[in-house]
Amino acid sequence: MREPKYIWYKIAESENELHFNNNNLIVAIANKKKITIGKFKEKLLACSYNCPHAGGILSDGHIDAQGNIVCPLHHYRFNMVNGHNITGEGYFLKTYPVEVREDGVYIGMEEKKLFSFL
Ligand code: FES
Repeated sequence: MREPKYIWYKIAESENELHFNNNNLIVAIANKKKITIGKFKEKLLACSYNCPHAGGILSDGHIDAQGNIVCPLHHYRFNMVNGHNITGEGYFLKTYPVEVREDGVYIGMEEKKLFSFL
């Protein structure tokens, strides 16, 4: 299987510009899209704004002791690295790679091809 190609979007000039709430979550904008950014053990993680179950706003949830994001609505848990639904309800959370570079913090979004056979 082909490795995904990413387009990188800058969300901040530096990590210090990301002012996390007490729950270590914030909302950022990448490519005009709201994204949830989490911080766990000094590592930045990114996932979709809404929960895949029923649209809960994930930045209003929290990160548990294992680094999973917990949705505020029904408390389903998701791994913020691979999107797995830890509590087993069968949903999948969209996650994004994060890179902290010298010139800023970037979120990678998969390049969408017009024709999938190209
Ligand atoms: S909306 Fe997130 S667990 Fe139900």
